[in-house]
Amino acid sequence: MVEKKLFNRGIASGEAFCNRTEELERLVKNIDKLTHSLLVSPRRYGKTSLALRAIARSGLPYAHIDLFMKCDATSVVAEFFQGMGSLTSKIIKPNELALRKLESLLKNLSVSLSLGEFGFEFNLTPKNIDSQKNIKSLLISIDEILLKNKKQAIIFIDEIQAIIGTEIGDEVESALRFVAQKTNNIIFIFSGSSRHLLGKIFDDRSRPLYKLCHKMAIHRISVDHYKTFINKFAKIVWKQPISDSVLDEIFSCTQLHTYYINILCGYLFELDNLPTEGDVITCWKRVCSEEQSSVAKEIEFLTLKQKQLLNEIAKHPGLKEPTAKSFVKNVNLTPKGVSGAIDVLLKHDLIEKLETGVIRIVDPVLDYWSK
Ligand SMILES: Nc1ncnc2c1ncn2[C@@H]1O[C@H](COP(=O)(O)OP(=O)(O)OP(=O)(O)O)[C@@H](O)[C@H]1O
Ligand SMILES: [Mg+2]
Repeated sequence: MVEKKLFNRGIASGEAFCNRTEELERLVKNIDKLTHSLLVSPRRYGKTSLALRAIARSGLPYAHIDLFMKCDATSVVAEFFQGMGSLTSKIIKPNELALRKLESLLKNLSVSLSLGEFGFEFNLTPKNIDSQKNIKSLLISIDEILLKNKKQAIIFIDEIQAIIGTEIGDEVESALRFVAQKTNNIIFIFSGSSRHLLGKIFDDRSRPLYKLCHKMAIHRISVDHYKTFINKFAKIVWKQPISDSVLDEIFSCTQLHTYYINILCGYLFELDNLPTEGDVITCWKRVCSEEQSSVAKEIEFLTLKQKQLLNEIAKHPGLKEPTAKSFVKNVNLTPKGVSGAIDVLLKHDLIEKLETGVIRIVDPVLDYWSK
């Protein structure tokens, strides 16, 4: 039997988690050394799965604060308070006595007990309107609880770039810096998918979180790792491995994009017989049709010329010099226009420049339709 959640669209865990050995080791070491980390990659490469796996390995209590689509102050604050309440419940066993102790320790917060999914839980709420926005005092309180209980904890803030543009973005940034710099009890893991926005938070000298974290770029998983991983399950399901040529077809369609490997392999592993190259192509076409509308949404805001440029990039695999005459003649733009449009596409993570200098479309389904 293979794990039910193998090749799924959500968090990869258990046996469904492929490799990432080096990244895991690095992250666990950072946790051990109280070094805060920042995981950066385009969307759906596996940041959340990786962080949660490293956290599980560390065995420390943690809070997972997911700021995805949290675009106003109220929901950001609510997410922090909810996360810290549940973290507190993991640090101290929630009961009446612990509640009274917490109440005397935490001057700026109200603490209460409620019956949650897993028994009693602490709820933390701000005492007055002012502290409503005061994430700093909330984080300091957690630090105090940890110090008092001689424990350490991880605060994992996912999609951190979402705070940019909210009214309390600056306040959250400086609160995080304040606590992250002085704490010996909290390890922060940040993750985010907009390289451009993350650069604004973490690489700008004038911003509070500058140089505070070990920045780790998360790349695609390699062919070798995927071969071993996929064939481990193929041998269970079909009693034999998938041939190299079929595997190569899988890798060429998905370009090793973690999320799409999962969707495609999810369909292939439903087949009764060992998949052929034809099966891979059929299933990939199905994936591309199903995902068409969601990738279309991601490029809605582009101008016609920027879309045309995207199409030309798709049609020129291995492109290195987009402003060269031979390429520019394909698009109705001047070299300067091309370079401006390339900047826009890069800024929105629609294309990326690889270490080899090659420019490619990040999303293989967008690449498919652009061709
Ligand atoms: N190590 C892994 N092995 C196998 N599949 C993985 C691995 N990491 C992630 N995935 C798969 O990749 C997809 C994206 O994973 P995940 O949500 O962790 O990525 P993310 O970078 O946090 O994405 P998002 O940008 O949507 O937050 C999911 O389908 C997940 O199951
Ligand atoms: Mg994620």
